[in-house]
Formats: sequence, structure tokens, C-alpha cells
Amino acid sequence: MKIAIAGAAGRMGRALLAAVAAADDLTLSGALVRPGHPALGQDAGLMVGGVAGVPVSADAGGVIAGCDVFVDFTSPAATLALAGLCAAAGRPAVIGTTGLSPEERERLRAHATRIPLVVAANTSVGVTLSLYLLEIAARVLADADVEIVEAHHRHKLDAPSGTALAMGRAIAQARGLRLEDVAVYDRHARREARADGSIGFASIRAGEIVGEHRVLLVGPSERLEIGHVADDRRVFAEGALRAARFVRHAPAGLYDMRDVLGLR
Ligand SMILES: NC(=O)c1ccc[n+]([C@@H]2O[C@H](COP(=O)([O-])OP(=O)(O)OC[C@H]3O[C@@H](n4cnc5c(N)ncnc54)[C@H](OP(=O)(O)O)[C@@H]3O)[C@@H](O)[C@H]2O)c1
Repeated sequence: MKIAIAGAAGRMGRALLAAVAAADDLTLSGALVRPGHPALGQDAGLMVGGVAGVPVSADAGGVIAGCDVFVDFTSPAATLALAGLCAAAGRPAVIGTTGLSPEERERLRAHATRIPLVVAANTSVGVTLSLYLLEIAARVLADADVEIVEAHHRHKLDAPSGTALAMGRAIAQARGLRLEDVAVYDRHARREARADGSIGFASIRAGEIVGEHRVLLVGPSERLEIGHVADDRRVFAEGALRAARFVRHAPAGLYDMRDVLGLR
């Protein structure tokens, strides 16, 4: 299967280049960067200390046309434009970009009427499983106070993380609520006690932390914690390639990692 990677020079892009090189059933067909990027024209393998036999390119249309599955970990604006090109070219895609607004998610949903799209704020198998476990916990511990604490590297732009929001959404939905109605992102502006049913978020940004999430479900006399720690970006890259294998032959539609792992 031929894989093209968008944002190939980025942190995740480089993890994906290494993961594709290590997979027997995959070959790299394209490595996309922004126009004017200094790596343009050089062998994509150089970015991970190897040889890929594929030049780094800024020709999005050409890169998409040459792949079986397009894998995109870039930025919301780039992702929206690239997903439109995938839909026009009939190429399945895996999107790992986070920080998408509800409107941007709707636009992806529209593209997914023409092509199969996996959109996953966290492609780790462990995190996908923890979302599943959280739904059960949220239903059984229906009155527990929920707090979500996440930690990431100092370069991350969005907060709370897409994964923390996905966790909050899973818990709210399991309780028949909308996250928008119960989420608390800031306790500084208002001086008031915790509202029943609210879901609090806290974000740590420091050093090179790859990604940590801890959900506390706290009752009056006991506390359950469900947590996940990513030690290496490889987990996200390997999960994204698992999604690529799934999406290649899937019918048009919008999918997430639950679909990929058969946890629906
Ligand atoms: N789903 C998951 O499991 C998961 C895991 C980790 C990260 N993420 C998300 O994935 C995204 C990327 O993360 P990262 O840490 O790899 O960030 P990063 O190091 O900043 O990489 C993003 C790359 O995308 C490139 N890019 C931006 N616009 C582009 C365009 N139009 N065409 C081609 N390339 C373009 C950037 O190039 P320039 O530097 O030239 O702008 C950069 O190299 C973020 O949204 C992050 O939150 C998701």
C-alpha cells in the first residue's frame, strides 16, 4: 500500500516516515511540505536518517494522486484544504490534526460523503481503549466529579488537547449531556464552587512531554483514575498506519479509531 505523508518535516511527519520505513506492507509514495520549505527536493528519508527514494514535495495534488492513502498531521487550515483535494481525487485519508473547530469538523464530514476518512485526535490504541473504558466508568459512577488533566510538550498550540476534549465528550455523552454545557476550562475568572456534573480541564505545557492524560472520577469516599502515557510519538504513527490499512478499503464515510479497532 502506498502511503503519502503531509507535514512530513514535522514531529509527527518524521515519526510516520520512520514507521512506514519499518512496515513490510507499506511503501512511501509522497512526502508533502509547505512551498518554500528548505527540505524541498531532497530525499524524504534524510529527515529520519535513511533513504526513501522519494523526493520531498510541495505539490499537494501530485502527492495525493500518487498514493493509496493520504496521512495528514499538519494544522487545521492545511488539513481542510488537503482533505478537499483528497475528496476531489477519490483518495482515502487519515487525519490526525487536532484543534479542529466544530465548523471544520462539519466540513470534513461533508468530504467524507465522497471518500472514507478517519479523523482521530489521538491515534494511539491505548487512548482509544481508555475512551471506551471511560464511557463505562462515566455511566457506572454517574455522580462522580470528573477532572481531566493533560500534559504535553512546550510547542503544542491547542489547549486542552484534542484527546482531553475527546475524553470529556465521551464522558458527557455517556451521561446524556453535551460537553459544551458542562465543560469548565478556567477557574480563575470566577470565584465559585464546583457545579454538579461539570467536567474540569487542566493543561500542563512543559519540555518535550509526548502526551499524558489522566481522568479522575471522584466520589465522596473513593476515586477512580484512568490514565494513559505516551512515551514515544511512534505510538501515534503506528496507530495512524493501522487506520490507513483500515480506511483503504472502507466505504465513504467518517470514521474514528474505535471503528479502526472494531470497538463500535
Ligand atoms: N492524532 C494524534 O494521535 C496526534 C499525535 C500527535 C500530534 N497530533 C497533532 O498533529 C498535528 C501536527 O503535530 P506535530 O507535533 O507533528 O506538529 P509540527 O511538528 O508543527 O508539524 C506539523 C507540520 O505540518 C506542516 N504543514 C503545515 N501546513 C502545511 C501545508 N499546507 N502543507 C504541508 N505541510 C504543512 C508544518 O510545516 P511548517 O513547520 O513549515 O509550518 C509542520 O512541519 C497537530 O495538530 C498535533 O496536535 C495528533
